[in-house]
Amino acid sequence: MIDPFTRVNDAIADTLDTLLPQHSDIAQPMVDAMRHAVLGGGKRMRPLMACAACEAFNGSFKSALPAACSLEFIHAYSLIHDDLPAMDDDELRHGQAATHIAFGEANAILAGDSLHSLAFQSIAEAPALSHAAKLHCISLLSTAAGWPGMAGGQCLDIAAEGEELSLARLEALHSAKTGALIEASLVIGAYCAEVAPDNPRLALLRTFGQRIGLAFQIVDDILDETESSATLGKPAGSDQALHKNTFPKLMGLEGARQRAESLLAESLALLKEANLGTELLTSLAERSVKRRH
Ligand code: IPE
Ligand code: IPE
Ligand code: MG
Ligand code: MG
Ligand code: MG
Repeated sequence: MIDPFTRVNDAIADTLDTLLPQHSDIAQPMVDAMRHAVLGGGKRMRPLMACAACEAFNGSFKSALPAACSLEFIHAYSLIHDDLPAMDDDELRHGQAATHIAFGEANAILAGDSLHSLAFQSIAEAPALSHAAKLHCISLLSTAAGWPGMAGGQCLDIAAEGEELSLARLEALHSAKTGALIEASLVIGAYCAEVAPDNPRLALLRTFGQRIGLAFQIVDDILDETESSATLGKPAGSDQALHKNTFPKLMGLEGARQRAESLLAESLALLKEANLGTELLTSLAERSVKRRH
């Protein structure tokens, strides 16, 4: 029998492929760049979390697939732009040439722009969601991706290169640039199960998302120092080279590891409290912290 992880992961891969354009009379290089960035690899943690949260609220994960894929579109766009020379200037992503290396900077920027639009289009056109659920998803995703969330966090990440942030400020940075989209993935999954925004279990899911989202970026910082580029599929040591603010830099590798582990323990306790501790959601939380790439 096919295990729950593979079942959902395969469906996400199929839906990403279907939602992405293949041919354009006017913009083929940009379309190729979009496909390279999304289909070239990645753990697909955000769409997996969305589908898992939908199932945890007794929804069918299939109804959540377009909105789940919208999270991967935003994520892929954020990575294309993150790797650009004006940002982290990294040339390797998912073990392949970064999008701007493979397709040029202009096509990479435009592919990011189009993935951003495609994300919202995918939710608007999702066949199995109510109008209310679509609006809740669009509203949350725009906040999580935009100035208070991912893009805002990226702004502070770049602005603070070379200066030392306080721990509280670094937490705010990581919570925005990475945590917001992970939290949104979970809540969007719940919306796809037609859960109302004022459902009290949603508040616990949000807090779970905040904790595991912060842990996810702490682990990303740790792996940047401890793993090879071959294992990561992206350049190891990039943070130190750019004088980034990271958890290991501020509290040491061991301190950062302990922080990630204690956030995981708090997260798992929250899942139980909300009666959302399904096998898939629990295993995704564990994978967010106990991973090597
Ligand atoms: C990397 O995210 C960038 C962060 C926001 C930490 P992922 O680890 O989820 O990237 P994938 O799996 O390579 O797409
Ligand atoms: C990027 O953080 C977070 C994003 C919003 C893309 P990093 O710059 O640490 O991500 P990696 O290590 O390049 O994947
Ligand atoms: Mg970065
Ligand atoms: Mg980077
Ligand atoms: Mg990193």
